[in-house]
Amino acid sequence: MSAQKQVFIAIIGAGGVGKCFLGQLAALAARRPAVRLSLCYITTSKKAVYSPDYAEINIAGATAALAASETKPLALPALVDYLAVAPSKVVLVDNTSSQDVADAYPQFLSRGISIVTPNKKAFTGSFKLWQDIFNSAAASGAKVYHEASCGAGLPLISTVNDLVDTGDEITKIEGIFSGTLSFLFNSFAPANPAPGVAAGKWSAEVTTAKELGYTEPDPRDDLNGMDVARKLTILARLSGIPVESPTSFPVESLIPAELESASSGDEYLEKLPQYDDQMEKVKAAAEKEGKVVRYVGSVDVTTKTLKVGLQTFDKSHPFAALKGSDNIFSLYTKRYGSNPLIIQGAGAGGEVTAMGVTGDLIKVLNQIA
Ligand SMILES: NC(=O)c1ccc[n+]([C@@H]2O[C@H](COP(=O)([O-])OP(=O)(O)OC[C@H]3O[C@@H](n4cnc5c(N)ncnc54)[C@H](OP(=O)(O)O)[C@@H]3O)[C@@H](O)[C@H]2O)c1
Repeated sequence: MSAQKQVFIAIIGAGGVGKCFLGQLAALAARRPAVRLSLCYITTSKKAVYSPDYAEINIAGATAALAASETKPLALPALVDYLAVAPSKVVLVDNTSSQDVADAYPQFLSRGISIVTPNKKAFTGSFKLWQDIFNSAAASGAKVYHEASCGAGLPLISTVNDLVDTGDEITKIEGIFSGTLSFLFNSFAPANPAPGVAAGKWSAEVTTAKELGYTEPDPRDDLNGMDVARKLTILARLSGIPVESPTSFPVESLIPAELESASSGDEYLEKLPQYDDQMEKVKAAAEKEGKVVRYVGSVDVTTKTLKVGLQTFDKSHPFAALKGSDNIFSLYTKRYGSNPLIIQGAGAGGEVTAMGVTGDLIKVLNQIA
């Protein structure tokens, strides 16, 4: 009888997504005993749990162990060294949004440590970092998967990769990439308003979205469009365009110029009603044509043109009919012709995002264990 295979798992980040991932990892470990999944390292920015002999950390008790720990995390170069000499293969799960961790991916990968992550930063930094990551993986044979870096658990990145790898030609991708902006526009300019329910002014809708927890603590971090630009950069690069950075193409900010310099999110929200006319005009102009306005990212692969901003759509268009905070992506390709392949659903949330990470982990395990 052959010995049970073992794969070490190291986790950086145990916040909203990290905690959900731990739950899914515990279930996966129980479901697939053919490979022993041994958690050997887990850290937040301040505390870590690990031991020099790679002793297995109980997955179900990892959050409590972290809370009780007085051990400091290893510096990233020391973590690379620690994991590189582990007695079996290692998968690093980066559940942070840290640029420092992302910048270290080439070092992890070149030492044979595979990575799965929902962290956008590695894939939206310089194009050189992107190349370093995939070149390091190719050279060492380590794997790197990042499904949840765009569209959370939706099968978006894997689908784009499959289209490219099977020889289809992507001509255009457009989508509603932000759950926050989806929610805001579905409420502010609904295609099919519920009878008797009037949409609020823009400032009221932004305030409601913040109160419901849909926005960042400072809503300007959603409304400046950079999160959408980052996600669009990932899809464009996967489609073959060497986009230099998310700031190298036009991104329309929804923050009135006068409020860019407001000292806090609260001050921004307080003053926003003074600028409601701007968005009312945009909405009215769309309505006059029988359309609704939505915040969209698009990449025309043929002309290598990327843009992020407001666009209007017929009320029957799938983008107009979106509900809640869902994301939607239309992939136009040679094979699919004029009817795009559409992927739609929740684009945020701990469990669905962790599902993208766990799905990636399973893909890596299928290849390395
Ligand atoms: N939440 C979603 O719906 C969603 C959707 C799609 C993608 N994502 C992506 O998933 C990732 C995690 O999101 P989240 O919502 O779970 O964030 P979060 O709740 O803020 O958790 C982040 C975790 O990472 C830790 N961390 C941050 N920097 C670190 C560092 N340098 N070293 C070690 N640990 C560090 C934090 O520790 P401390 O608490 O000590 O700072 C915390 O445990 C992000 O990249 C995010 O963009 C999230």
